[in-house]
Amino acid sequence: MNQPKIAQKVPYVMDIEPGTYFWCACGESKKQPYCDGSHKGTDFRPVKETVEKKKRVAWCGCKHSQKAPFCDGSHSKL
Ligand code: FES
Repeated sequence: MNQPKIAQKVPYVMDIEPGTYFWCACGESKKQPYCDGSHKGTDFRPVKETVEKKKRVAWCGCKHSQKAPFCDGSHSKL
């Protein structure tokens, strides 16, 4: 399995509205933290996340979280 590209070594902390989101797993997207289709040709696929109500989230930015699409602190070990 190839390693994802580290988009940034901190999470993307955002207040988001209810809806469906596609978190970029490959790290190549130009629209971080969301998928823009740049994973094409790689082994990576975006992670779908449905949010029921408005809330603050910490999307994983380093792409190494074991709790993807959310930050688990893995960036501090890279
Ligand atoms: S662009 Fe990274 S998973 Fe789609």
